[in-house]
Amino acid sequence: MKTIINIGELVGIVPEGVLRKQGTEMAETGILHDAWIAIEDGRISGFGPMNSRPADKGEVVDAEGGMVLPAFCDSHTHIVYAGSRDGEFLDKINGLSYEEIAERGGGILNSSDLLGRTSEEDLFRQSIARAREMMEKGTGSIEIKSGYGLSPAGEMKMLRVIRRIRESIPANVRATYLGAHAVGRGYSHEEYVRAVIDLLPEAAGWADFVDVFCDEGFFTVSDTDRILTAAKPFGLRPKIHANELAVSGGVQIGVRHDALSVDHLERTTDAEIETLKGSGTMPTMLPGSSFFLGIPFGRARNFIQAGLGIALASDYNPGSSPSGDMRFVMALGCIKMRLTPVEAFNAVTLNGAYAMGLSEDTGSITAGKRADLILTRPGWTLTRLPYLYQSPFINRVFLRGEPLS
Ligand code: NIG
Ligand code: FE
Repeated sequence: MKTIINIGELVGIVPEGVLRKQGTEMAETGILHDAWIAIEDGRISGFGPMNSRPADKGEVVDAEGGMVLPAFCDSHTHIVYAGSRDGEFLDKINGLSYEEIAERGGGILNSSDLLGRTSEEDLFRQSIARAREMMEKGTGSIEIKSGYGLSPAGEMKMLRVIRRIRESIPANVRATYLGAHAVGRGYSHEEYVRAVIDLLPEAAGWADFVDVFCDEGFFTVSDTDRILTAAKPFGLRPKIHANELAVSGGVQIGVRHDALSVDHLERTTDAEIETLKGSGTMPTMLPGSSFFLGIPFGRARNFIQAGLGIALASDYNPGSSPSGDMRFVMALGCIKMRLTPVEAFNAVTLNGAYAMGLSEDTGSITAGKRADLILTRPGWTLTRLPYLYQSPFINRVFLRGEPLS
């Protein structure tokens, strides 16, 4: 048993059973001032104002006026990768676009070559360091995709590394099979789509979700339909890369297959917004990619005005978003997408958890949920998080109720 007392702001209180926020709910979250929160067996056992504080039992942590909020839920990352892509960073500065770099054999194929030359042990070592960096920045739940293997052996190597990370860290880890990230070297397009489908029975033993990069120059709506149809009997719910490079039809095919999320959405028309209404699919925007690639930011305000929720995720990867800093993602959401701090906060906590199928278990201050919490330094408020977006703010991160060591 552990109690955190003298909390200046306890932020993110949500009633049991609320699994996501949509429309005007995006602007709401429960906040208690001058509060306590109790943790038992790694879960939140109670909370309230300091004047109703129960008698001390177990360890007491004095927040000294710091804020407590749920740890960030990052529902879209590619943190299992080998080496780096510095050369492409220079190409980009010199004026090449993401598509041009990919056409020259750079991009995802470059990472695939690097991964092929890296031992599984070394890949694990490099990748878990990124997961640790994310936890230190306040992330408590991480979705990790395969997609740099681009061959059956390479994809399985990545999925094993993701499993090993999941077993080695206190953060929640969800694994996604993204065989259809780019056509692997040596395959024709059709051969590769068949290879992605053929690996589904084995990949399903290691992954929670299936993803396809449904976009111009990568995989078509019809490829995506085939892969998702084949994945269904294995219980792999889709999370789709859509509308990053073009209006791709990925949103529509994702919703038709009851995708848990459709991600990127830098380029969307009103038709995509209409399609998402009434669905169980979480539109997920990745402002770190928009920032790094210099492409449009998602139309978050239009989605919210249409009554939809949105999640924000980091997309941490070596090509389009080399950062897993969720506070920076919040800041971009506010500054570039005109989200309010509360909307951005809901997008990186409860709605991110929903986009990983984890919102019954984490992503808010709710009795019974995992005590995945950030305790800030004194004086921080929710508005300051994205505003003072580079000042050190974390005092301690608790995952399953235990501080990170
Ligand atoms: O989400 N868009 C496709 N996949 C990644 C980028 C991967 C890479 O460039 O290595 C993304 O942006
Ligand atoms: Fe991605």
